[in-house]
Amino acid sequence: MTKQRVIMDVDTGSDDAVAIMAAILSPDIDLVGLTTVAGNKEINFTTDNTLRVVELLGADVPVYRGCEKAMVCTLLHNRHGDYTGATGVGTKLDAQGRKIEYHTDCLPLPAPTIREQPEHAVFYLVDTLMRSDGDIVLVPTGPLTNLAMAMRLQPKICQKIKAICFMGGGFKVFNATSASEFNIWADPEAAQIVVTSGVPVTMVPLDATHRANFTLDDARELRSWNTPAADLVATLVEERVAAYNAFQPQELPDSAPLHDALALAAVIDPQVLRDVRLMRVDVDISGGFADGQTICDTRAFPDRTPNVRVALDADRERFVTLIKSLLRSCPAR
Ligand code: BDR
Ligand code: CA
Repeated sequence: MTKQRVIMDVDTGSDDAVAIMAAILSPDIDLVGLTTVAGNKEINFTTDNTLRVVELLGADVPVYRGCEKAMVCTLLHNRHGDYTGATGVGTKLDAQGRKIEYHTDCLPLPAPTIREQPEHAVFYLVDTLMRSDGDIVLVPTGPLTNLAMAMRLQPKICQKIKAICFMGGGFKVFNATSASEFNIWADPEAAQIVVTSGVPVTMVPLDATHRANFTLDDARELRSWNTPAADLVATLVEERVAAYNAFQPQELPDSAPLHDALALAAVIDPQVLRDVRLMRVDVDISGGFADGQTICDTRAFPDRTPNVRVALDADRERFVTLIKSLLRSCPAR
């Protein structure tokens, strides 16, 4: 079987890191390139963290630094409230007095010796997609700035993208504000450009990712394998469970979502997603209370053409088993 060619656009990030590892380790995916964007952390950190993960696995995947700011959203006065304020991140300390965070600035890996490519991520996307046979799937797992910029720079890339499977948005579940999910909230105009691009889009929102959590038991199992890749994921799961217990307690005790890894897993095995519905989705770019909301039209006869496949649920067992089997394939120390 031919491998699916994929470009990931990441803001690495603990869960982005797991998604990248799964893509590199999957025999079904040819990871053509990684582009970075500011999001979870500023661009220097997200790029550096991406290089750390690539180097950990000894992969030959080029990394391209992308946009350090959202397209236009910060031009609107007072538009962005304090995200950390909204979630309480940084206001709680663990027993050792350390800040509890979803993502540390630097992943717990050695500083990279490999380097990013000289070309900007947006130009890389345009060049690579235009030269392709239309066979590349894009998996964005951060704010959609790079992709929307590439679409504005060269609209013809939209005919060249086979599909987009992005992590972001919410149907009934939100995190950045009471109405929005972080990746979309961070650059709502970019998200609106992408969902209305005409490219086949699958959205993997919080409603699905919160149904596919890893637990502390999963982390313990990974740790027992004593491989660098499984060890890293175990550590990230533990950190994320601490953060979710502190700020967004989950239905499944001592568990946390690895959002981005679910979007990547859906390219390998679409059945990790459940209850996928084609809907009209638009992003609120009004700057009001619902700024950055992914508005999903559930009516039988929406005013505008349905444009996004929205996953409302996920198969936790299937997802966790898939990620574990990929990590299992990684050699021991
Ligand atoms: C998304 O926001 C980021 O914090 C995560 O990496 C994920 O992509 C979840 O809302
Ligand atoms: Ca992310």
